[in-house]
Amino acid sequence: MEYDETYSNIDNFFGVEPVPILRNYYHMLNKYKPILDIGVGQGRNALFFARKGFVVDAIDPSKVAINTVSAIAVKEGLPIHTCQCSFDTFIPQTDFYSGILIFGLIQILSWESIELLLEKVKIWTKEGSLIFVTGFTTADPSFSRYLREWKTIGKNSFMDKQGNIRTYLEAGEILNLFSEFNVIYHWEGMGPEHRHGDGPLHIHGKFEVALQK
Ligand SMILES: C[S@@+](CC[C@H](N)C(=O)[O-])C[C@H]1O[C@@H](n2cnc3c(N)ncnc32)[C@H](O)[C@@H]1O
Repeated sequence: MEYDETYSNIDNFFGVEPVPILRNYYHMLNKYKPILDIGVGQGRNALFFARKGFVVDAIDPSKVAINTVSAIAVKEGLPIHTCQCSFDTFIPQTDFYSGILIFGLIQILSWESIELLLEKVKIWTKEGSLIFVTGFTTADPSFSRYLREWKTIGKNSFMDKQGNIRTYLEAGEILNLFSEFNVIYHWEGMGPEHRHGDGPLHIHGKFEVALQK
C-alpha cells in the first residue's frame, strides 16, 4: 500500500492544518449529520471537523492512516468512526452526509474509479449537503513527465508498473463532473510552494471546489 510507507516515515505528510477552504465554509454544514472524509490520510481535515463537534466517518485503505487517526480520536475523545476500506466497499451507517471531503484522491484514481466515486457521492448526499474536492489539473508540472514515462490508461490518466495512477483534470472539468451541484467556491491555478517532510520544494497545478447539492 503506497501510503502506508509514506505515513510510517513522515508525521503529518500533508501538514497539520486542514485544507484552507474548510475554515471558510464549515459553518454552512448541518451539525446534526455526519461528515465523510474519503481518503482521510493522517487526519488533518477529519480532526478539524471532529474538534468542532461534528461526527466524522473517516475511511482510507491505508492501515497506518486509520491507526493514526483512531489513536488521536481515542486520546482526545473525538467522535471519529474509522474504516480501513476503500470508498467502493464502504457502507455508511447514516442516510446521508452533511458534507463529504475528497482531498487529494481524484488524482490517484482511474476514470472508472472516479465515475464510481461520483455515483457514491450522489447517493450519500441530500439537498443542502456540501462536498469539498481538490485534485491536480493538466497544468501540474508533473503532467508532462507522467505522460512521457507512464502508460496512458485513459484521458490524461497514467499508470506505472506498480499500478500507481495519476489522473489530471482539464480546466473546469471538475464542475462538469459534479454538474448537478451548485458552485459555492471554485479555484484553479498553481498552489503554493511546499515540501513533504524533508523532500524537495515543489508546486502543483490544482483545482479546489466547494459545491452544494
Ligand atoms: C493524497 S492523500 C490525501 C490525504 C488527506 N485527504 C489529506 O488531504 O491530508 C490520498 C489518500 O487517499 C487514500 N486512498 C487511496 N485510494 C483510496 C480509496 N479507494 N478509497 C479511499 N481512500 C483512498 C490514500 O490511502 C491516501 O491516504
